[in-house]
Amino acid sequence: MRITVIGCGYLGATHAASMAELGHEVLGVETDEARRATLAAGEVPFYEPGLAELLGRHVASGRLRFTGSAAEAADFGDLHFLCVGTPQSASGLGADVSQVDAAIDALAPHLTRPALVVGKSTVPVGTAARLAARLAELAPAGERAELAWNPEFLREGFAIKDTLEPDRLVFGVGSASAERTLRDFYAPMIDAGSPVVVTDFATAELVKVAANAFLATKISFINAVSEICEVTGADVVDLADAIGHDARIGRRFLNAGIGFGGGCLPKDIRAVLHRAGELGVDDAMSFLREIDDINQRRREYVVGLATSMLGDSLIDRRIGVWGAAFKPDSDDVRDSPALWIAGHLQLRGAQVSVYDPRAGESARRVFPTLTYASSALEAATDADLLLHLTEWPEFRELSLDQVGSVARGRRLLDGRNVLDLAAWRAAGWDARGLGRR
Ligand code: UDX
Repeated sequence: MRITVIGCGYLGATHAASMAELGHEVLGVETDEARRATLAAGEVPFYEPGLAELLGRHVASGRLRFTGSAAEAADFGDLHFLCVGTPQSASGLGADVSQVDAAIDALAPHLTRPALVVGKSTVPVGTAARLAARLAELAPAGERAELAWNPEFLREGFAIKDTLEPDRLVFGVGSASAERTLRDFYAPMIDAGSPVVVTDFATAELVKVAANAFLATKISFINAVSEICEVTGADVVDLADAIGHDARIGRRFLNAGIGFGGGCLPKDIRAVLHRAGELGVDDAMSFLREIDDINQRRREYVVGLATSMLGDSLIDRRIGVWGAAFKPDSDDVRDSPALWIAGHLQLRGAQVSVYDPRAGESARRVFPTLTYASSALEAATDADLLLHLTEWPEFRELSLDQVGSVARGRRLLDGRNVLDLAAWRAAGWDARGLGRR
């Protein structure tokens, strides 16, 4: 099929390249000129494993092109995927949907023949119904320009796999023909076994935020339990292993540590909390405020623990930080707990040297006053304390002898609970985890 992908950020660039991989002719629509030029040159302006190679290949083959013109997009495609960002609003907890509105307003007046506009962005419930009406009003094709809502669940670091082998497809549709079009389009995934849930707009919109709210709740639940472990001497990793064996609970997303960050979980729980308030059902989602608070508390706790490990003063103390990204296999530092902790330690007087295998540049843009090292050992050099804050595999493979020979003090805090604390302790380190024995 000939499709367009409107908004070529994280979600859009991945969707565009992956759909080209499936054999579709894809036109990416990106209004940011610099980003468009980068993509058109076959490069990806952020790090996602495998994406640069996939995108480069399809730009070279001609199956994937980019434009800034909505008119060209309307002329080119029969299916238009809306993938623009919906960040947290600057003035409150709700989502800013101005980019979604602008995309519809730009595209619709050019839709002269039947087309299906498929929303993938994460939006407050009620947005799709509003956009469907706006589309029918503005498009010369009238009601033959239809809307569907098809939320995306991809994880950074696994974006291509999650796009090409989704664990579910959700179609929020207003007609049988929209459902048929989506089933045809996604036939390779459906044939390969991805389950399909066909539903209305509101449910499709809510599925996405409900999924992220549930995942955030799982993480904050185990982090809250970890607080009890801290004061009782219990071990949160053993505990998570034990409750995780219960198939009703499951082990995934029960890793206690410095908490969740990124461009999705934090903003989505705030947006759903805000939307529930607008809908007059504040109480239904008010527990998410507590989920957010537990999450924020982790960061503050680590700053306090690091300070006490250094004798209650950070002045003239050197701290080496391993990790800045909000999770491994990403260079994304949006609301990253790792960078938050590094920044706050520095603001309290410590000299902080940060190393991240991929996120150094993006971290430097957000927090230019930290020192950025070019290797884990460089960050550890002369450090009185080491903090392990993003669980990149390379940090688990470091030689303790080498780290010990460059560090000034033998203190380690593992904020992700994945390092072998027994080995560190055997090598003479005061090595601690979070909620660990
Ligand atoms: C998330 C959802 O998983 C995805 O389905 C949705 O489409 C977008 O939001 P992502 O933001 O890529 O994906 O990250 P995710 O893997 O969910 O991790 C989010 C945060 O939670 C990270 O900071 C991670 O370190 C943290 N986390 C995750 C934990 O602290 N403990 C866990 O057990 C799991």
